Amino acid sequence: VRSRDRELQQQQALIGMTPNAMGVVGNRRSTEDFEIGDVLGEGSYSTVTLATTVHPPYRQYALKVLDKEHIKRERKTKYVLIERDTLKTLDGHPGVIKLWWTFQDEWSLYYVLEYAENGELLKWIKKYGSFDLRSARYYVAQILSAVEYMHEKGVIHRDLKPENILLDRNMRVKITDFGTAKLLRQDEIKDGQPAPAEVQPGGRPRARSFVGTPEYVSPEILSEGRESSFSSDFWALGCVLYQVLAGHPPFQARTEYLTFQKIINLQYDFPPGFPAHARDLVEKLLVVDPLARLGGDPANGNGIEAIKSHPFFTERLRPTRSSLSEAGAQ
Ligand code: ADE
Repeated sequence: VRSRDRELQQQQALIGMTPNAMGVVGNRRSTEDFEIGDVLGEGSYSTVTLATTVHPPYRQYALKVLDKEHIKRERKTKYVLIERDTLKTLDGHPGVIKLWWTFQDEWSLYYVLEYAENGELLKWIKKYGSFDLRSARYYVAQILSAVEYMHEKGVIHRDLKPENILLDRNMRVKITDFGTAKLLRQDEIKDGQPAPAEVQPGGRPRARSFVGTPEYVSPEILSEGRESSFSSDFWALGCVLYQVLAGHPPFQARTEYLTFQKIINLQYDFPPGFPAHARDLVEKLLVVDPLARLGGDPANGNGIEAIKSHPFFTERLRPTRSSLSEAGAQ
């Protein structure tokens, strides 16, 4: 491999094509640019693997491989394109996974994504059982910041959950999986809300189906005749905040149907010792009416700022031992 490497480098130098800092040569990507590593995750029609560039500095990426035949058969083309388009739109925030390149061959579509070394937030919740207040605030604040950016760009994620919240090598949040997102053009947004879809004369209203994961899905997505809105992501945020502190999601049941029943009836409890400000914020986010939910009515002074200024984020926490010793060292 090394001698092949050297030979390749010599050829590249001859034609003025040396790998750049991303470990790749030229503008077009292909599977030839990467060595495929371990599987990082598997979806119903895609697999994500670690992929390292074959050229120095041997950068690592997460390569999402989507099976064309399967996508066509299952009529998932729309979702695949939504994921690509939203990720291309969301290229300016550290809290959203970066899509570096896309390419395809006869069989597959390939998305070369930023690699989040520390994997899913879910893994860390399982490892530690639950987080302390300081950690919960650290992660939820980063998620909220990424959600704020997505919403500004007209993207509703619609499937926020600890499996889709990845962590990089510095334990910074990277939101992923925009396959069920909704991408609104600026003219489709009015007063910070998706403008009601116009029904074309003679056309049928758009069919809607449940998207998302049962445990984190908001009541408006479950009920007839309601559209998802930016506020749906705030419901999911409430579920995630509850989960990092309690160790389990607020609404869980044996079947999907029973989970949905709990959600629409707002049937959940707080475990003993759940911190007061966090409880207050969860109670303001897990509100059935999307407009009455905290952050859910920007046209009437209840936008994302209302969440950001909640005491859960602003309260003073006791200094840690390490911050005390840092202060002492100065
Ligand atoms: N699993 C799915 N996507 C991933 C990514 N970008 N980084 C790490 N693990 C992943």
